[in-house]
Amino acid sequence: MEGVIFDLRHVSYCYEGGISGLTDVTVPIAAGDAVALLGPNGSGKTTLLKILDGLYYPTAGEFYAFGELISERRLADRSFNKLFRTNVGLTFQDVDAQLFSPTVADELAFGPRQLGLDAEEIRARVNKTADILGITALLNRYPYSLSGGEKRKVAIGSVFAIDPAVYLLDEPTANLDPKTADRLIDLIISLREDGKTLVVATQDLDFAGYVAEKFLVLGQDKRLAVFADKGTVAADTALLDEIGLIRRSPWRAAQERSRCASAKVEGEKGSVRNGPAVPLLP
Ligand SMILES: Nc1ncnc2c1ncn2[C@@H]1O[C@H](COP(=O)(O)OP(=O)(O)O)[C@@H](O)[C@H]1O
Ligand SMILES: [Mg+2]
Repeated sequence: MEGVIFDLRHVSYCYEGGISGLTDVTVPIAAGDAVALLGPNGSGKTTLLKILDGLYYPTAGEFYAFGELISERRLADRSFNKLFRTNVGLTFQDVDAQLFSPTVADELAFGPRQLGLDAEEIRARVNKTADILGITALLNRYPYSLSGGEKRKVAIGSVFAIDPAVYLLDEPTANLDPKTADRLIDLIISLREDGKTLVVATQDLDFAGYVAEKFLVLGQDKRLAVFADKGTVAADTALLDEIGLIRRSPWRAAQERSRCASAKVEGEKGSVRNGPAVPLLP
């Protein structure tokens, strides 16, 4: 797949009751892009991912995927629907809304089954996915009985088992312990090395810095604030602070204080009030 695969042109989405979910967003996403979708709560990240996944249709503007204008009618076409579903996979922010099978193994097998793969290939995909995500011991469990983090791993696995060209991940590190979040970073990096396209919504700037090359930032007004390479966006601390993406950390504040103290000894001016508003990117 070459060139632009998702093209949003002045896309808006309005929920019932006239609540705006996204306003006038124009962005092209190219094959192989790794995009972090950043923004405060309620800025439209989930809405945008659902549009990219063909679950919602823009209420204004146009969304093109794989060169085709996406509409309910277009996705009702069986062969296009299959092409779209083979190429695009979304993990929901709300995992309970995603998991519905009686066992974890069935959950992982669902997508491959829908693709019409044979039983042996389905089994191989389920086992490989379980192995990579470290959930082999959960295969016979009922998804609803799992912890939040375990459910998250199963939800990510259900997309991984489809092996789509485009991964849409909605806050995938929510509920994950730090070690599992690190394994997810490794998994995403390996997906990128395989040429997959990635759009990942997250509140975690450090995670975004590891997995993405471009940052797409939505503002509280649900409009596009900036879409640029991560270095450019990360350097704009005023914007990130204004958008509310920088968390003041006592550990970083302490580091900064000692750095400023030694700078003062060397005769430089330095003052730290609430700690630095500095994202740590790798
Ligand atoms: N089902 C819904 N009905 C009405 N409004 C909604 C619904 N889902 C989301 N919204 C509203 O749309 C806006 C964007 O929400 P969302 O896309 O979930 O943001 P984010 O994922 O960035 O937190 C918010 O103002 C939210 O309240
Ligand atoms: Mg969301």
